Amino acid sequence: MIGVKTEEEIGLLREPCRIVKECLAFVGERIRAGMTTKEVDTLVYDFIKANGAEPSCLGYYGYPASACVSVNEVVVHGIPDGRVIEEGDIVSVDLCAYKNGFHGDGARTFCIGDVGPDKEKLVRVTEECFFKGIEDLKAGTPLYDISYKVQQHAESNGLSVIRSYTGHGIGREMHEDPSVPNFGRRGTGPRLPANCVICVEPMIALGGWRVRVLNDGWTAVMSDGKSAAHYENTLVVRENGVEILTL
Ligand code: MF3
Ligand code: CO
Repeated sequence: MIGVKTEEEIGLLREPCRIVKECLAFVGERIRAGMTTKEVDTLVYDFIKANGAEPSCLGYYGYPASACVSVNEVVVHGIPDGRVIEEGDIVSVDLCAYKNGFHGDGARTFCIGDVGPDKEKLVRVTEECFFKGIEDLKAGTPLYDISYKVQQHAESNGLSVIRSYTGHGIGREMHEDPSVPNFGRRGTGPRLPANCVICVEPMIALGGWRVRVLNDGWTAVMSDGKSAAHYENTLVVRENGVEILTL
């Protein structure tokens, strides 16, 4: 069941989403070779707390950090640790903030120095997939039109779409209905109602789409060891388009 928010609830949602947006920019300005993924997590924790919010990820089903920091072959849910970020890495940072009784959620993939043409294209196309996915999106759009457009753009660029993780609704809970896959058939799925709030988050890989989860129960790595990227925003579906809250 796809929930809809009142204007008052959407007003409350703006603040955690603003914090997510600003935190991602803050990290983007500071992330560099030589830093550990744990240091990135500390930046995120401190920023969110300094803004009077809570990091939603910390303790979520036992998740041990405030951000997911996923380097190269790690597609999502990379647990921050002593891994040193190197020149040529791509680093996905995914974070959620909770304030006013609502969650905001967003992710970016950062290029560390010169990453080479393949990874550069991967990061660019992943971001483009988000914008293609929401092109023409408005109240009444079939949900899997988003999925179809993301998949189409990724695959037409020779990239593959991760199957086992999806976008989602968001609000008082970090994950609400519906699930928003990055692959699907155009014209299918429930029609999105005005004032539903969803996270659209393409997760795209350079090689095959198969993923395995490490023994820590979280870290999702590409089975073929090739790199993957992630780009995510929280948005409101409106009568005439979308309002992106984390951009
Ligand atoms: N922010 C992620 C998402 O897009 C969720 C992270 S899982 C957690 O759904 F355990 F780290 F919280
Ligand atoms: Co999300």
